[in-house]
Amino acid sequence: MDYTRFLSNNAKARRPSWITQLRRYLTNPSPDMLWLAGGHPDASLFPLSEATITLKNGQEIHLNQDLMSTSLQYGPVEGYTPLLKHLSGLTQKLHSPPRWSETRQLLTVGGQDGMAKAFVMLIDPGDYVIVPVPCYAGIFSELTSLNPHYLPVEEDEEGMRSDLLRSTLARWKNEIGETGSDKRLKFMYTNPSGSNPSGTNMSEKRRREIYALACEYDFLILEDDPYYFLQFQDDFPPSFLSLDTEGRVLRFDSFSKTVSAGLRVGYVTGPEGLVEKISQHIMATVMGGSTMSQVLVNELFNKWGLEGFLRHVKEVRDMYRKRRDAALSAAEKHLTGLCEWRKPGGGMFLWLKVPKVTDTQAMLLERGAAKNILLVPGNGFTTRPELPCQYMRASYSTVQPEEMDKAFKILAEVIREEIQLQNNAK
Ligand SMILES: Cc1ncc(COP(=O)(O)O)c(C=O)c1O
Repeated sequence: MDYTRFLSNNAKARRPSWITQLRRYLTNPSPDMLWLAGGHPDASLFPLSEATITLKNGQEIHLNQDLMSTSLQYGPVEGYTPLLKHLSGLTQKLHSPPRWSETRQLLTVGGQDGMAKAFVMLIDPGDYVIVPVPCYAGIFSELTSLNPHYLPVEEDEEGMRSDLLRSTLARWKNEIGETGSDKRLKFMYTNPSGSNPSGTNMSEKRRREIYALACEYDFLILEDDPYYFLQFQDDFPPSFLSLDTEGRVLRFDSFSKTVSAGLRVGYVTGPEGLVEKISQHIMATVMGGSTMSQVLVNELFNKWGLEGFLRHVKEVRDMYRKRRDAALSAAEKHLTGLCEWRKPGGGMFLWLKVPKVTDTQAMLLERGAAKNILLVPGNGFTTRPELPCQYMRASYSTVQPEEMDKAFKILAEVIREEIQLQNNAK
C-alpha cells in the first residue's frame, strides 16, 4: 500500500537522517574497522561499572561490565536489537500478523510516545479522526493540538458500536462530498482491551466489523493496547493487528502495566512505510529510548523466556481481577441506586455514571477532594471536555479491598450531598 495519502505535511517533509547511512556499519561492525565516525562517548569513562538486580522471585539479573557499557551507550534508533528479537517472537506467537514480512517493529518510550509521534506523522489540521466515547484522555493533549475534526462514536458492552460507526461514516462522506473538502479521514483510535476508562473488551465480532469498515472507507486503525494482558477472561479476541490483511493497523504495546511503568518501554508494530516515519521522528527527538531500560527488559526475557513472561503477566492479570471484584462488591454495597456501571472485562478502571448529578467535575474536585477522596471527572474522556459530564472514573489498580469499601462509602455521601445541593439550587 502507498501510505502517502495518510501522511501529514510534517511527515512528508521529514527525511531519514544522514547518520542512518552509517547504520549498516553499526549493525554489522567489522572487527578491523577503524571507527572515527561515531559521536559516541567512551563508555569506559562513565562512572557506573556493574550491577546485580534481584527479582521478586529471588532470581538475579547481572549486568557485567560489557552489558553495563552497552546499557550506558546510545543504541540503535529502533531499539536494542536482542529485545526486538524477543518482541518479534512474542508478536508472532500472540498475533500471527498476516503481513508479517512487510511489518516492522521499533521500541518507543512507552506506548504514549509512539502514539504522539504517529499523530504528528498522520494529522494535518482539519483531517478526520474516529474516537470512541468514552476515550482514553491521554491522547487528546497531543492530538487536539494538531486540530483534527473528531468523529466520536459511542461504545456499548461490546466496544465501539459498529452500527453507529457505519452511520457516522455515511454522514461524514456526504458532508465531505458537499463541501468538496480535501481533508481526509486518517484513522480510528481504539483502546480495545480493558479500555481506559470503561474497562470494556471489544468483542471479536465488533473488531471484524470495524476492520471491514476501515477497508471500505479507507482509514487506518491505531490500536493502543497496553491492557492486552489484563483481559480477565481466558480466551482473548484477535487483535486488530492479527486481522490486518491490508496493512492498515499500527499497534502500540507497552510494558508499563505488566513490568514497569518507570522504565518507559513500549513498542510499535505496523507497516514498514508508517513505522519508518515514526523512526525518523525518534531520530529527531529522543534518538532512541533508554538503552538501560531496554537491556533490563531484555534480560527478563532471557531469564524467563516467552513462556515465563506469559506466566508473569497472567499472575498480574489475576491480581487485578481480584481488585476488580472487590471494587464491584464495594460499588454494589454503597453505590446502588446512586450510580450505574458495567462490569469491567479488563484493565484497571470502573466507569461510573451518576444519573442524578448533572456534572461530576465540581463534585469530585472540590467537594470530593475536601473529604479526601479523588476520582477523575468524566469530561476529560470526551472530545468536548468543556461540557458537563455525568460520568467519573474510579481506579482499582492500587487499592486494597477494605480501602475500596471505605472510598465508595465516602463517595456515596459526596453524591448524596451533591444531589441535595442541586435540588436546593432549583
Ligand atoms: C489506554 C492507554 N494508552 C496509553 C497509555 C500510556 O502508557 P505508557 O506508559 O506505555 O506510555 C496509558 C496509560 O495509562 C493508557 O491507559
